[in-house]
Amino acid sequence: NGTYTVSFIEGDGIGVEISQAVKDIYKAANVPIEWESCDVTPLLINGRTTIPQPAVDSINKNLVALKGPLATPIGKGHQSLNLTLRRTFNLFANLRPAKSIVGFKTPYDDVDSVLIRENTEGEYSGIEHTIVPGVVQSIKLITKPASERVIKFAFEYARSVNRPEVVVVHKASIMKLSDGLFVETAKEVAKSFPDIKLGFELLDNTSLKMVSDPTKYSNLVMVMPNLYGDIMSDLASGLIGGLGLTPSGNMGDKVSIFEAVHGSAPDIAGKNMANPTALLLSSCMMLRHMSLDTYADKIETAVLKTIASGPESRTKDLKGDATTSHYTEQVIKNL
Ligand code: IPM
Ligand code: MN
Repeated sequence: NGTYTVSFIEGDGIGVEISQAVKDIYKAANVPIEWESCDVTPLLINGRTTIPQPAVDSINKNLVALKGPLATPIGKGHQSLNLTLRRTFNLFANLRPAKSIVGFKTPYDDVDSVLIRENTEGEYSGIEHTIVPGVVQSIKLITKPASERVIKFAFEYARSVNRPEVVVVHKASIMKLSDGLFVETAKEVAKSFPDIKLGFELLDNTSLKMVSDPTKYSNLVMVMPNLYGDIMSDLASGLIGGLGLTPSGNMGDKVSIFEAVHGSAPDIAGKNMANPTALLLSSCMMLRHMSLDTYADKIETAVLKTIASGPESRTKDLKGDATTSHYTEQVIKNL
């Protein structure tokens, strides 16, 4: 029953406040975690955005990190810092559940979707060029190994949470080669998982069905290429009340980084207004990943109870009047 050390990337903008909220709540809940702060202010090495070595070492040593929102450094030819982190640690699967918050009403009552996004390639490969002025090309790169590992992850995840089906969301009717490869790879991977059903759905149809009746997705796991997953996970967030509520985990073979998907919101930074829920729920995913389920349950229950208790304990993004610190105090009271 020792203590675990976890790397913490507090992040920019509202990251500072929501990270403090997490730290305060963890302390009050006696979670046996020591935080190791990581400065990820990037370096530009040979024209590539690079994470400073002490941060890389910390994360490789601790294997688990929690991350607030990072603004992409402007100027100097930097690439997205968020993407650089995923790439640096080969975090190939992005796990994005969206579950309705009982006590926070939206037009959708019982969303319980799980979306797994390929996290390393597709349109995010960063391969773009101008052929001649006015004609540009952005490459959507799909490889069999990257498809295989994320689809395998989806099957294993489905099995671990007792969901009987994996649905591949794609557009192979148009993207015949790239999505076609993803689809064919899924058929091969499925052979090793005879206990899990394999389904296929076209992306446009999934969008329609998600907003018409999201309960159709409560008993399956979706897996899809990178950009589709980016878009569909925001859609799923929208069904439950927005990005302030949805957690995510960037999973690799060794390292995992759990993060709030929302941005750094510089317009409200430092104003004690930000909603720490997404980071808190991401941290609960992290605790379960570390087999610290009892602490995850304790914190998640307190968070849900706080949100359910009404507008006076909800932050502004949830149409409430609570400041970040008031919300944090309420969560601590509800532990
Ligand atoms: C996300 C974000 C990122 C993405 C941005 C910040 C690069 O939107 O995690 O979904 O596009 O993947
Ligand atoms: Mn996104």
